[in-house]
Amino acid sequence: MFYKLIKNIMNKIIEALNWRYATKQFDTNKKLSQDDLDTLFEAMRLSPSSFGLQPWKFIHVKNPATREALKENSRWQAQITEASDLIVIAVKNNMQESDVDEYIQDMIQTRKVDLENIPEDFKNTDKLVEFKNMMINTISSRTQEQLKWRNQKQAYVVLWFLLSTCAQMWIDACPMEWFDPEKYNEILWLNELWLTATVVATLGYRSIDDKYADLAKVRFAKEKLIIQK
Ligand SMILES: Cc1cc2nc3c(=O)[nH]c(=O)nc-3n(C[C@H](O)[C@H](O)[C@H](O)COP(=O)(O)O)c2cc1C
Repeated sequence: MFYKLIKNIMNKIIEALNWRYATKQFDTNKKLSQDDLDTLFEAMRLSPSSFGLQPWKFIHVKNPATREALKENSRWQAQITEASDLIVIAVKNNMQESDVDEYIQDMIQTRKVDLENIPEDFKNTDKLVEFKNMMINTISSRTQEQLKWRNQKQAYVVLWFLLSTCAQMWIDACPMEWFDPEKYNEILWLNELWLTATVVATLGYRSIDDKYADLAKVRFAKEKLIIQK
């Protein structure tokens, strides 16, 4: 009985992942509810990150004129203005001691620990203070370019938490990378916040006219992808 239930859930997950596709044409009359948006932002917030430092911000672009300006800098892709919602995932250009401090302070409050306590999830260090120093040392041993690049890789974890949650909720989405990040940074004032636009997600509901919706998925066979060792 229990196994059947789990199997059913697993089938539903695969069904949803097959159902989703990179939506090209959204139904401009259908909007996401605030409840749905809250759930999606919560899924993004729960994304894992290196050391847990969460080096990102999520920009929910609501202003139609701003979205129009972003479309101009996204090869005029229609989803930018036609989707119900547009989220830009931006990452920190650098990592500093203050980023580690902010996280440690949050951990102290959330877990009600102090700097001298042993963090339960980090067995290699004796004390939170050592964990903090280890993070600071790691950050200071890397160049700003390396840190930014690491942060950008992590933006894709957020993207995937978002897209797979959308699929489970039967919400359509298109991940988008075909845009000019420097222009995005300018338009969204991200330079001032020391952030860089990394990847975009447009969200909404597919138009019945989107010819891409019914195309068969093109994916390599698992025998080609999985290497057994
Ligand atoms: C990182 C990333 C960037 C993408 N950028 C764009 C984009 O700018 N515009 C677009 O229409 N699709 C974009 N796509 C969608 C892909 O083309 C699509 O996911 C791929 O062809 C597989 O098709 P499917 O997602 O419909 O199954 C992007 C996908 C990913 C993962």
